Amino acid sequence: MTFGEGNLKTKISAGFPRGKVAYFVTSNNHKFQEARQVLSEYKLATAKLKVEAVEIQDDNLENIAKFSALDAVNNCGLPVFVEDAGLFVDSLKGFPGPYSKYVYNTVGLNGILKLMKNTEKRSAHFKSVVAFATPEEQPICFVGKVKGKISLQEQGNFGFGYDPIFEPEEGDGRTLAEMTTKEKNVLSHRGKALRKFAEWYSGAGKRRF
Ligand code: IMP
Repeated sequence: MTFGEGNLKTKISAGFPRGKVAYFVTSNNHKFQEARQVLSEYKLATAKLKVEAVEIQDDNLENIAKFSALDAVNNCGLPVFVEDAGLFVDSLKGFPGPYSKYVYNTVGLNGILKLMKNTEKRSAHFKSVVAFATPEEQPICFVGKVKGKISLQEQGNFGFGYDPIFEPEEGDGRTLAEMTTKEKNVLSHRGKALRKFAEWYSGAGKRRF
């Protein structure tokens, strides 16, 4: 009997300690630390997996995350999760949204602050999509959002990306970059999406396997 690639992947996946360990495909160490902390609350260990996962351009974060999850699974044959996030500014009609990475890497925080100069309506939200997939299962998504506003200037040295210019509504006026990882996780988009995933993965998700 010969094992085709599909059979081999099925075998690997079947022996995987689901509900105990979760493989996070990311190159972002901040995201990994945030995930590790949230998942540990559910007695889950998080492992960082370095695997190619294509990030397509699409208007919809769920589509981007699902595609990445499938690509990562195809490249490693293991159950994995990926995460994709975006910042949506109301007065900019949701810009940069799914294009947040490109905007951050080009015009950066200053570019957003300049676009918002003299703008009183500063409301915005972050959205995070966690997508989990295995060689046998289609991706399943978990979504988290946090409302807030764009600050007038950069504040804080923690975190990453747009954290220095985002003040969460449920917070105390500090930007996400002025919070510890633990504080950010309590109210952040990613913290919320990860808790939904962890709840499912450590309990109900395990039973489906
Ligand atoms: P991606 O999820 O890595 O594609 O992120 C898109 C863009 O949003 C990148 O420029 C990130 O730096 C930024 N970003 C993602 N998550 C966060 C966050 O939690 N805080 C601030 N910026 C973020």
